[in-house]
Amino acid sequence: MKLILLSVVGLLLVVGEGTADRILSRRTKRELASPLHVGGIRDPFGSYCQRRGGCCPGRDDLCTVPYLDTICYCDLFCNRTVSDCCPDFWGHCLGVQPPFIGTCERNGNRFFTGQTYKENCNLCTCGTTGRWECEQHACLIESDMIRAVNRGNYGWKAANYSQFYGMTLDEGIRFRLGTQRPSRTIMNMNEIQMNMDPQTEQLPLYFNSVEKWPGKIHEPLDQGNCAASWAFSTAAVASDRISIQSMGHMTPQLSPQNLISCDTRNQGGCAGGRVDGAWWYLRRRGVVTEDCYPYRPPQQTPAEVGRCMMQSRSIGRGKRQATQRCPNTHNYHNDIYQSTPPYRLSSNEKEIMKEIMDNGPVQAIMEVHEDFFVYKSGIYKHTDVSFTKLPQYRKHGTHSVRIIGWGEERNFDGTSKKYWIAANSWGKNWGEDGYFRIARGDNECEIEAFVIGVWGRITMEDMHNHHHHHRRRHI
Ligand SMILES: *[C@@H]1O[C@H](CO)[C@@H](O)[C@H](O)[C@H]1NC(C)=O
Ligand SMILES: *[C@@H]1O[C@H](CO)[C@@H](O)[C@H](O)[C@H]1NC(C)=O
Repeated sequence: MKLILLSVVGLLLVVGEGTADRILSRRTKRELASPLHVGGIRDPFGSYCQRRGGCCPGRDDLCTVPYLDTICYCDLFCNRTVSDCCPDFWGHCLGVQPPFIGTCERNGNRFFTGQTYKENCNLCTCGTTGRWECEQHACLIESDMIRAVNRGNYGWKAANYSQFYGMTLDEGIRFRLGTQRPSRTIMNMNEIQMNMDPQTEQLPLYFNSVEKWPGKIHEPLDQGNCAASWAFSTAAVASDRISIQSMGHMTPQLSPQNLISCDTRNQGGCAGGRVDGAWWYLRRRGVVTEDCYPYRPPQQTPAEVGRCMMQSRSIGRGKRQATQRCPNTHNYHNDIYQSTPPYRLSSNEKEIMKEIMDNGPVQAIMEVHEDFFVYKSGIYKHTDVSFTKLPQYRKHGTHSVRIIGWGEERNFDGTSKKYWIAANSWGKNWGEDGYFRIARGDNECEIEAFVIGVWGRITMEDMHNHHHHHRRRHI
């Protein structure tokens, strides 16, 4: 049986060659088509000719099957051009190995052309020559960078984070930051005049809002792969300020999702946004709490922003009321929280410190460089460990964070290292329980370049009402 089949194929081939010779004199579209399999067979184990129901003798330009975004042939003529046969032509029609399937080796296992594996953030494909061909992206977690930071005397330590492993550096910058640099007009916004003399004002060596205002400073959240630090830092600073200002009568954790989904005018949701736009929204529309409008970290990219589920309407005297129930159906407290207009602080370190000590945490814009992602502990300063690498390994993007305090660390030589204590929005397993310390006084990563403070909009009536809520719950 097998013998007969083989001789049939042989016969067909003879016929095929005869046809081909005749046709070669006038070159046709098919012969001029670009070869399908130059980079190795994609989908080498797919069934095409088999699913078509067989192979065609000689040349038959209608003997095709859809293949990826084009077509492939199952006629015997395709073997002459090699280029346009379906992946299973050789195996199915001729019973031989395709001429350009290579085998690659990995951990003692054999792989064929077209098979892949992922090495950190790069996809490696077994090429036709039997060599692995890997993408060359810079990854967010580079083990040599971690090693170099930890070996060097940089004042901080680096670590691997499983939530970043396998992402490219570009993806880290695209999905984990998300604050647009303020426009020139905003950057030129007047700084408030502080009633202090930076030279003579005595400020403590160490200050932490968490210790001065226990129970009123909110813990760092996790933005996940959503580039919305603009919403996270704004909501966090407003939450702390309202809690401090109301002396703990209200301690709302304001909802970043409310901003991401509803503050959509000139804002990019999970693709980045502006802090001035976020403050405008907090002032004019207001937002509810995180528990009322919970964060839904995106499961895929590009991230979906989600429909806005919470509008507010004016109820007079500048106050607003929610027009919907909480998206979280277990929560009945859909109170709207608002702020007053934000104010810009000067870049003077002392003035920023005084503002934090008097009024609470501030919002700061900063440039995040490649090494910041692997920060684990210590006083961060951008290092030179990637300076000798290709430019693709050295990238940065704009982020925003919440500064909650400061301190100083004594060096062995008697000098000291000054730092800010700041909250990030990459979860509590990142850095020092979600916080980081960064060099203070040198505008490190531009962290002192654009600092914002704000007041919550709180009336005596608010204090009374919320106080009541509070009391009633405890009786
Ligand atoms: C098909 O093409 C390959 C590679 O060019 C060649 O080695 C093989 O002999 C051809 N097979 C037939 C049956 O023509
Ligand atoms: C980092 O962690 C991942 C798993 O979370 C692991 O697969 C990887 O080998 C680690 N990389 C380094 C450089 O330690």
